[in-house]
Amino acid sequence: MLERFVDRILPGDVLEHLSKIPSDSVDMCFADPPFNLEKKYNSYKDQRPDEEYLAWCRDWLTELVRVTKPTGSIFIHNIPKWLTYYAAILNEHAYFKHWIVWDAMSNPLGKTLLPAHYGILFYTKQPKGFKFYEIRAPHRKCRVCDSYLKDYGGKKDQMHPFGALVSDVWTDIYRIRHNVRRDEHPCQLPIHLLERIVLMSTDAGDVVLDPFLGTGTTAIAAKALGRHYIGIELDPEYQRIAAQKIAQTTPSFYQGVYVSYYLGKIQSIRDVDARELFPPQLTAPEKKRSKVKGRMEEAEILVEPVLQPVLLEKQAEYTLA
Ligand SMILES: C[S@@+](CC[C@H](N)C(=O)[O-])C[C@H]1O[C@@H](n2cnc3c(N)ncnc32)[C@H](O)[C@@H]1O
Repeated sequence: MLERFVDRILPGDVLEHLSKIPSDSVDMCFADPPFNLEKKYNSYKDQRPDEEYLAWCRDWLTELVRVTKPTGSIFIHNIPKWLTYYAAILNEHAYFKHWIVWDAMSNPLGKTLLPAHYGILFYTKQPKGFKFYEIRAPHRKCRVCDSYLKDYGGKKDQMHPFGALVSDVWTDIYRIRHNVRRDEHPCQLPIHLLERIVLMSTDAGDVVLDPFLGTGTTAIAAKALGRHYIGIELDPEYQRIAAQKIAQTTPSFYQGVYVSYYLGKIQSIRDVDARELFPPQLTAPEKKRSKVKGRMEEAEILVEPVLQPVLLEKQAEYTLA
């Protein structure tokens, strides 16, 4: 039943398409709706009275929970103002896990604090038994001197050889700033942001749904990581760009494991995979112990030919006595 929607961009309205998707069928939903901030989209008018906007949001949020599998999760990206309403709606139907802070500078609004983060709500359909994988990101280093930015409380020797576990504050993923790197779309998200979410919440072969696909970020992340996608998008030009980019997407692997890259370096990897690919280094006491052990073994090898006959003689004496 779900097959006819899978690996397709469904052209048209979000509510119309969602109503046809079976309940409990999708592994993960990610939504990045219009923010009602008068952004200049191709066709959508991003300016509605607040009450109308929120009533519309309630409809698609409720639908997203309905179509998600009991093991699945729902992620919603927006500015904090709208997320406070979304959380209240989602609390009625799903289970709060995290408010992820995505540290990404926006424009000064005047007479307010400078908005410097977007929020990503993370909800699950059920309180337990949902899919979740811890993610590791590389340790942050100074661009000039290449030394670590954190001192890890003087326990550098115990640092994970690849990187630290990701928290609910993401400071290592940047918005797309340069026009050469972006599509003709006012709010395109970086692919590695979506790849982190996909790695965190789904397995290869799972189905990821994005009801506001834009120029295809979520579908590209899903395909690169061996997942299936369903995208809904109103605008024909965005659909066209998305389809073109999805067709060019190739798998994102490192030594047979799905990972997310940024500028040629691994940006996100599952902890379970990192354990295999980057085994932990020895701590200082372990290193000391292994050095002492190594020295003892060396000594044993050296003394063996000399000591052995003496020991044997002694043993013989004892046995005779
Ligand atoms: C914030 S953008 C999503 C950008 C996307 N995350 C990306 O990285 O490209 C919101 C998108 O929702 C689309 N949209 C607006 N209203 C819609 C509706 N009723 N049904 C489907 N899509 C809609 C807009 O055309 C726009 O591309």
